[in-house]
Amino acid sequence: MYTDLQSVASPLGHSTVGAVLPAGTGRDLLRADDGIRTRDPHLGKVMLYQLSHVRAPPPAKPGEGATRNHSRADGWNPNNLQPAGGGSRTPKINSARGYPDRVTLTSPTTVRQLAVWRNGERLDDPDQAIVPATDHGLVVGDGVFEAMKAGPAGAFAVQRHLNRLSRSAAAMGLPAPDHGLVREGIAAALESWTLSESKVRVTYTGGEGPLGSGAAYGPPTLIVAVEAHQPTPPSTAVVTAPWRRNENGALTGVKSTSYAENVRGLAYAVSCGASEAIFLNTAGQVCEGTGTNIFFVFADEVVTPPLSSGPLAGITRELLLEWTAVTEHNVTPEEAASADEVFLTSSLRDVQGIHRWDDRDLTGPNPVTERLADLFQQRSADQLDP
Ligand SMILES: Cc1ncc(COP(=O)(O)O)c(C=O)c1O
Repeated sequence: MYTDLQSVASPLGHSTVGAVLPAGTGRDLLRADDGIRTRDPHLGKVMLYQLSHVRAPPPAKPGEGATRNHSRADGWNPNNLQPAGGGSRTPKINSARGYPDRVTLTSPTTVRQLAVWRNGERLDDPDQAIVPATDHGLVVGDGVFEAMKAGPAGAFAVQRHLNRLSRSAAAMGLPAPDHGLVREGIAAALESWTLSESKVRVTYTGGEGPLGSGAAYGPPTLIVAVEAHQPTPPSTAVVTAPWRRNENGALTGVKSTSYAENVRGLAYAVSCGASEAIFLNTAGQVCEGTGTNIFFVFADEVVTPPLSSGPLAGITRELLLEWTAVTEHNVTPEEAASADEVFLTSSLRDVQGIHRWDDRDLTGPNPVTERLADLFQQRSADQLDP
């Protein structure tokens, strides 16, 4: 049984999940040009809200909780998080973190359709999908996940996603996930699911563990959740993230549930009116987006940063490398700025062009991007599990 309420399209052509913001000034409103999902921490049943605005940071008031210094053109320097008024007061939770870049909401427009399978059991009511307070995925992000698209024929590229789940689990020191069980969970979660475009999320954590960084003692928690997915537009705007990806970190290339850096990056992109933030790595080379890989077209050559520069080994990236001629080599921001075309890839965006990067307009013809988007569409329609 699914929670099944009416869906109302937003004026932007998509639905979004919004987070409740602290009351702000309401000034300096920016309009986001793409759908962005954030969570509503205040509701047990997650609601879909209509994205209307993203709010730039409220001006600092002396003596109030922490706020951010403004040094960017958009008025926000995320590296300058510091308490105003000497920092002696304990800031209120929301104003301390500011949340200036969270998506605001107007009114609930629809209740999310969600199907959940957890540890061998399809749950009639997604609200039953609770995990212990000591689940190490929750406590310290000690878990891994996969996100894939699903259509009427089922989930796409499941075997590749399972393989990556296993690689991620091994990198985290988690027990090897049982592929048969994950497949069972995906099938059960998708059973009677009627939406044509969906997102399937597999989450696998260490299970119960200490309230700290010691290893989880399990058994692992395995959850498969399915929700509606709105098709993404053929092109989008991106910004350069103000933080760097660490290409040498313990979690480099691991799809771990410790994704808060990506949450911050994506929220930053939204605050700039974009749908993705592109990270450079610590060597200053272009790495990837918060949930996407990046490709460049230089004349006839298609280039993507190598895995050694720190990006996730995206499944869409991998398929494109197999299906067409792509060179892997490092790209500096200066080289990136001279590319004829730039595009993103991900399981939920497929191949998506970039029409603006920071202040650079890229709205010219993008024949290579369009050709590769068509190729990907055709090949993925022909083969469910390539
Ligand atoms: C950090 C990051 N990079 C790249 C990607 C793209 O990978 P895929 O094509 O497997 O979706 C993702 C996917 O979510 C991601 O989280």
